[in-house]
Order: sequence, then structure tokens, then C-alpha cells
Amino acid sequence: MSNKMWGGRFASGPDAIMEEINASIGFDYRFAAQDIRGSKAHVAMLAASGIVSAQDAVAITAGLDQIAGEIEAGSFTFSRALEDIHMNVESRLAEVVGPAAGRLHTARSRNDQVALDFRLWVRDTIDQIDDQLRDLQTCLAEKAQSCAAMVMPGFTHMQSAQPVTFGHHLLAYVEMLARDRGRFADARKRLNECPLGAAALAGTSFPIDRHATASELGFDRPTANSIDSVSDRDFVMESLSAAAICAVHLSRFAEEIVLWVTPQFGFVNLSDKFTTGSSIMPQKRNPDAAELVRGKSGRVIGALVGMLTVMKGLPLAYSKDMQEDKEGSFDAIHALSLCVAAMAGMVRDMSPASERMKAAAGSGYSTATDLADWLVRKLGLPFRQAHHVTGSIVKIAADAGCNLEDLSLAQMQAVEPTITQEVFSVLGVEQSVRSRTSYGGTSPENVTAQATNWLTRLADSDK
Ligand code: ARG
Repeated sequence: MSNKMWGGRFASGPDAIMEEINASIGFDYRFAAQDIRGSKAHVAMLAASGIVSAQDAVAITAGLDQIAGEIEAGSFTFSRALEDIHMNVESRLAEVVGPAAGRLHTARSRNDQVALDFRLWVRDTIDQIDDQLRDLQTCLAEKAQSCAAMVMPGFTHMQSAQPVTFGHHLLAYVEMLARDRGRFADARKRLNECPLGAAALAGTSFPIDRHATASELGFDRPTANSIDSVSDRDFVMESLSAAAICAVHLSRFAEEIVLWVTPQFGFVNLSDKFTTGSSIMPQKRNPDAAELVRGKSGRVIGALVGMLTVMKGLPLAYSKDMQEDKEGSFDAIHALSLCVAAMAGMVRDMSPASERMKAAAGSGYSTATDLADWLVRKLGLPFRQAHHVTGSIVKIAADAGCNLEDLSLAQMQAVEPTITQEVFSVLGVEQSVRSRTSYGGTSPENVTAQATNWLTRLADSDK
């Protein structure tokens, strides 16, 4: 049987393989709500512009509402022979309202229809991810507030560098997530133009009102160029870029959690809710959720690369290649959403082992910079010389197998005779973090202020 939507010049139907490769209903059924919303706005505009009768518009709108109900109730039968969501809905509309249904597609094409549906879907998705990211930021800022003075080792090159506070470390992720949210918000701003009415690619000869449909669908304005409207998927590429960067951020935190929960680090404990046991090793508590957050970043990055590759070199305007824009995006967004939720759960339930972190913070001569700074401040040594003196003192401690504060004053004076007893006041990890009061530094005072500031901003629903 030839296709009832365009069967005019076709004598036979497609080969089974053609039908399989061509159909998108298996995944674009997810656009059902957006598709119906767009069709309702379109038919209302057609009626207001005198292109279809008010009576037909009422019948079409009621039919679309009925179909939305059927889809929601799960009683709608999706057909692969009808290719995609657009034709599935339209074909059912013909059954429900009769020949008037055929007027809905006036001044419209599936090209602007799919561009519209996808924009609406991405816009909804960005709003949902933004809520989730805000929730994760809140979990982190709350934990940061309660751990503002908890000392842990700060690392560079994965070597103990300088003591920091656990709260400060967590707030680093709050900042990263804020930029992720900013990237999503930027993408949302740029995508918020309505392609409906671009039709196949050239616009239409009907006197449509694109400003009306744009505003009805919550867009800032209609897109300005009909060819661009149906050709580009930069709103997908941009949103997936934001998603990929966010997933990379989460993967770094996930990796830290994986390290922190090892018996060797023992910095934090995860709750039973976000860990698993081993079927053979009874002692195990595995951080699977964190490992999966780390691993799923691969899918998100993959979706971005896939999308860029589909679009690369594609001539204007629409080509069927662009049907490949959806599955990777759905998968990536689902994965990201799950990762953000899992992270929020892990952070909320995570209990830091403060004594363990503090002990680790003091190892590896992490207060050597404090010693050097003291030599500069109190003895007036140039920093380079202070660095050298400190290096020699660290070597003495390392040779003796002890910490800096375990050396005697005499041992230090052997390197720099003017050192006084007062030096011991800067060698402890708590003194070290307390002294880092520069703007953005790790002092508990700064961390408390920043965590509090974040919590206020996050509670205000616009931030
Ligand atoms: N299912 C198609 C897609 O996802 C809809 C657009 C089809 N347009 C066309 N001219 N065949 O891209």
C-alpha cells in the first residue's frame, strides 16, 4: 500500500528494510506532548488568520486533546508504517475528526515541525536539569557549611600540597556547577526562537502570523530565516556541550569519591543507599554510584561528538541525516539527569571522617609553605631564600622520618640561626588553614561566609 500522506505519486509501499531504517517513531514518540502543543498553536493561528475556519479549528483542537489523552493513557497505537510522531498524530487525527484533519498541515512541513518539537523538548529538559543542578549545589553548600573548618589535605599532582578545608573543596564544585548552569541558561536563551512557519525551507505563501505562534509557545520571537530554521541543530550541539562539560565535572568529583572511600584514604563514608556489596568478598562496600557517574560521562561526551559528526558538512537545508539527532541526545540527557540525582544523594548521605582527614592533612610536609611564609613575614627573608631554607628543613625531617613540628628548634636553627620558638605556631594544619584568609582562600571563616552566601542565593529561585 502506498503512503496515505504522500501516496499520490507512489505505486507501492516501502521495502521492509526501508521502513525500518526510515522510521523514527521508536524514539520520537517522546515528542508527543511537544508535537501536540505545537499543532494546537498552529491551528489556532491558522484560524485567527482566516486560513482555516473556526469550526475546523475547534474540531482539530478537540481531536488533538483527545489524542494527547490517549497517548498519556497508553491506549494510543504507534505505527512504524507512519514513520514518526508527526504522522502518527496526524493520521489518528484524521480518524478522530475526519477530513478537516487534513487542514492542520497547511503552511507547515515536518521540517519546521520537528525543529519546533526538538526545541521545545530541549527547553523543557534544560529547565529540569537546572532544577536538579541547583539541588546538587544546595546539598554541597550545606555540607560545606557544616564542614567549613574540617581540615583535609589539598592535592596538586595527587601529592599532598597544602591543608585545605573539606568545605572549601566541596564549594569548588558548587562554583563549577554554577558555570554549568550558566552554560545551559545561555543555550536556552539562544534556542528560544520559534521555527514554526518556516515550512519545508522557504516559508509559505499563506498569510500566517509567526509572531503569534512564537508567543503562544513561549518563545521570545520567531526565527528570522526560514532556511536556517529547518537546517540547524546548533541548539542541540550547544546543549550537549553544556551537558558534556557538566558530566566531566561530575566525573571528577565521582573519581574523588572513589578514592576517598578506599580504606587507604578513608576520608569519607558513603551510606548503604549509594553503595553495593560484593557477592564473594564480604568485607567490600563498593562505590558503584560514583563509578557509574564517572563512567556515564562517556555517553554524554559520545552524544556530543556524534551530534557534531552528523551535522558536519551537511548542506542546507533539511536532510534525513538530521533524524539521527535524537537518540544520542535522549540518552545523554537521561544519563546526566541520573548522574546529578545520584551525586546529590551521595553528598547528602556522605559522612566525612574528620580525624582521618586531619591526620592525612599533616603528612607530606603540607605546612612547608607556612614555614616559608613565616620566614618571610617574621625574619624578612626574600621568599626564594625562605623556600630554600624550608627545603633544607624538610630534608632534615624527611631523613629523620618525622613531621616538621617534631623537629627541635635547634635542628631548625642549624639551617637558619634566627628562627625562634614562635615558628611552631604556624606548623599545625589548623593554623595553616586559618591563615588562608585571602579572598577565595580556604580559611574556615571564608568558607562559612561563602557557603552561607551560596545557600541564600540558591534559596532565591532565580539563581
Ligand atoms: N522524522 C523526521 C526527523 O526526525 C521528521 C522530519 C522529516 N522530514 C522530511 N522531510 N522527511 O527528522
